[in-house]
Amino acid sequence: MGILTKVIFASICVAFLAVYWTTPSFHAESLRGVRVVVTGASKGIGEQLAYHYARFGAQIVITARREEVLRKVADTCLSLGAQRVFYVAADMSNESDPEKVVDFALEKLGGLDHVVLNHIGASTFAMWDGDVEHARLLMKVNFFSYVQMAWRAMAALEKSKGSLIVVSSLAGKLANPFVAPYASTKFALTGFFGVLQHELAIKRSNVSISICTLGLIDTESAMSKVRDVVKLPAYPATDAALNIIITGATRQTDLFYPWYTSIMILSKELFPSIADYAIQNSHNYIP
Ligand SMILES: NC(=O)c1ccc[n+]([C@@H]2O[C@H](COP(=O)([O-])OP(=O)(O)OC[C@H]3O[C@@H](n4cnc5c(N)ncnc54)[C@H](OP(=O)(O)O)[C@@H]3O)[C@@H](O)[C@H]2O)c1
Ligand SMILES: *[C@@H]1O[C@H](CO)[C@@H](O)[C@H](O)[C@H]1NC(C)=O
Ligand SMILES: *[C@@H]1O[C@H](CO)[C@@H](O)[C@H](O)[C@H]1NC(C)=O
Repeated sequence: MGILTKVIFASICVAFLAVYWTTPSFHAESLRGVRVVVTGASKGIGEQLAYHYARFGAQIVITARREEVLRKVADTCLSLGAQRVFYVAADMSNESDPEKVVDFALEKLGGLDHVVLNHIGASTFAMWDGDVEHARLLMKVNFFSYVQMAWRAMAALEKSKGSLIVVSSLAGKLANPFVAPYASTKFALTGFFGVLQHELAIKRSNVSISICTLGLIDTESAMSKVRDVVKLPAYPATDAALNIIITGATRQTDLFYPWYTSIMILSKELFPSIADYAIQNSHNYIP
């Protein structure tokens, strides 16, 4: 082994140990009675987030557009052990609804400890075809509403030493084909909230921000789009949701779930042409 190889190997070992020792441990009891709002909670990962918070005995506000579905999710939350549950229908493409949801949660719960921003608007899985209007709408739903809600909740989170949890995607860190508008909204999120993480740290803020980078998760809406196109293993929504909550509760800045997401990002940085070859050949093009 050359000296450089030894140094690199030793550095990697030290880094692994450092991560292992400094990862804070999670205590389920810490979430009893916690006041949380979860967006996009009528299905998929958001629904599973609500159920986990319910099992931990939290006080929950859930939101999405479909009120009847929210009512059913709220009933299930109560039966799973939630202390209190409220639901509010809101459309995140509307300019005032994001703030309305935060105000509703503050009024019902009297404060906020966790804010989980998770919703996304519908988008296609296809080659970019020039639909600028769709890109603009998606930016409102997937990005601007997150900025609005985060800002509206910030004072309450400062007061409670709370956690802001942003659900993002591998598509927000690494360009993949067929998701140009969606990827743009997720890159915007990682950029905006990455900056905010630094600014809050510099200000010695009480608020922690966690950015969750997810790979393929087996939700109905994701699988219906990519089933025959993407050759990647899909991971369970319930496990993804639990990891998201633990990341927020332990105030970690980042989650990479599942494990392969960080490897893919790193490969693109280190070996761009090999990574590009792999990305393009892991997507079947069906015209
Ligand atoms: N599944 C994956 O493979 C995957 C991979 C990486 C990242 N993620 C991220 O994980 C999060 C959840 O994904 P998911 O697969 O669980 O999504 P999903 O099943 O499609 O759920 C989306 C949620 O957002 C709500 N929603 C849609 N449009 C809305 C609007 N205009 N206003 C308010 N709410 C709206 C939907 O409810 P209504 O229709 O009732 O409004 C639903 O509750 C997203 O941030 C996504 O980017 C997912
Ligand atoms: C947003 O919602 C409010 C009521 O909640 C409504 O008055 C307004 O017209 C909506 N705006 C748009 C652009 O749909
Ligand atoms: C952080 O929390 C403490 C109380 O725990 C409070 O005194 C302080 O004002 C908070 N910081 C900000 C910036 O609100």
